[in-house]
Amino acid sequence: MSKSERDELRLTAPLSWLDGVDPETGVITQPGHPQAGLSVAGKRVVMPHSVGSTVGAYGLFKLARHGVAPREIVLKHPDSVTISAELAGIPVRVLGAVEAPRPEAPEGVPDEFVRFLQKEASLAGAHSYIPVRSVHLSGISYATIGDAGLEFLEGLVERGVRFRTLVTTNPAGMDVSRWREMGVPESFAERQIRIVKSLNEMGATPTLTCTPYLAGNLPRPGEHVCWGESSAVAFANSVLGARTNREGSVKAIAAAVVGLTPAYGMHLDENRAPSVIVETDGSLSGTTDFSAAGYFVGESVPRGVPLYRGIKEASIDELKAMGAGGAASGSIELFHVEGITPNPIGSLQGGVEVLRLERRDVDGTIEQLSTTGSMPDLVTLGCPHLSLSELREIHGLLRGRKVSVPFWLFTARATLSQLPEGVLRDMEGSGAKVYADTCMVVAPLRAMGYRVIATNSAKAAKYLRTLGGLDVILLPTRELVERFSRPA
Ligand code: F3S
Repeated sequence: MSKSERDELRLTAPLSWLDGVDPETGVITQPGHPQAGLSVAGKRVVMPHSVGSTVGAYGLFKLARHGVAPREIVLKHPDSVTISAELAGIPVRVLGAVEAPRPEAPEGVPDEFVRFLQKEASLAGAHSYIPVRSVHLSGISYATIGDAGLEFLEGLVERGVRFRTLVTTNPAGMDVSRWREMGVPESFAERQIRIVKSLNEMGATPTLTCTPYLAGNLPRPGEHVCWGESSAVAFANSVLGARTNREGSVKAIAAAVVGLTPAYGMHLDENRAPSVIVETDGSLSGTTDFSAAGYFVGESVPRGVPLYRGIKEASIDELKAMGAGGAASGSIELFHVEGITPNPIGSLQGGVEVLRLERRDVDGTIEQLSTTGSMPDLVTLGCPHLSLSELREIHGLLRGRKVSVPFWLFTARATLSQLPEGVLRDMEGSGAKVYADTCMVVAPLRAMGYRVIATNSAKAAKYLRTLGGLDVILLPTRELVERFSRPA
């Protein structure tokens, strides 16, 4: 083997930078990845693209901080999560890329962000930039961004960096007013508060939710935005008809500071046509089914634009769950559901791949994501954050019952403020807790002593295992309530 071959690591499958690589050693840990067990440290990593969480950008920062980052990354398909490595000092290349023009940034904007957007445009083959109406930032929890992220954000504040567009924020690692009651360690809370404070000082609106569209950041159809949080990206593109790429958490900061994003990917009509038809058997029902269906399709066609056929009805909550599933196992930014989602489908070219999605695929995905049959020490609902209609549904299921294990519901503070007081009182009277600002994945559950978590979401099931190191039970909402509560 030559020296250049020894220095190069060729990945034959996409990689998640958040939970697919050990941040302290650089060893690939992503379950089922063909190169699992090999290290990216010091290597020229040639890879198709990243998958999974947009917070992967901070995963690259952590690798750099521990001195185990790749020497260089060569991408086949540009994605802003991986391109964010540039801001951590890791050079990124896309083969055959040509230099894009420099964006016309307002005066006083730090040059590194302008150069970063120019680099992203060059790597992505974009020739121009689009003003963004809003930015939604992922990577808010101390559990996911760690000291590397905290130092980066505090450094920006010290230098007087400010956002120039509407900026909303993803969940933090704790309910900012009830963290003591949750059992969050003091040292974690102190750092978490510093992260939120830094973002606020730069001008963010601290929505602390992955459903910003339910918390005042609601783009109109056709509007260009720049959102991190992969589930919100899928929702914005697919259900709202807005336009955003799946933005790395650090890239989204650059866009918020400059007010522009390069014009490529989901911003352009030609990339929004279906690339795969998913023929369903009409059996999908409930958010767990929809999230598992999205997860199955994301695994099968990680970068596809699926067109689902055979779904007669789907609620907004089911579509929200489907988007989250497809973005967790793959990097699906946009999906269409024939007769239901608003984007024009256009005429399908012959030769579009067809994928069959049958009952056994959905059940198999749910089974594959469940790691244990033992009793949970915590039941969690709300990935993505619960809407008002989901909270009302759970309220109905819990009526007249008492939970038999700790039972936590996660929602946006903006949604919680719309829930009638009596409904909240009833739910908490049954022993359930309704927490805002955080979720089961980004709260430090393992450090808080939990080991087996039950949930109704395929996305949460994946990350509880890979990121949290926890055992998981994945079941539909009704079943979770029936199994883990009893008549009062
Ligand atoms: Fe939201 Fe947390 Fe799930 S951020 S999409 S509830 S992992």
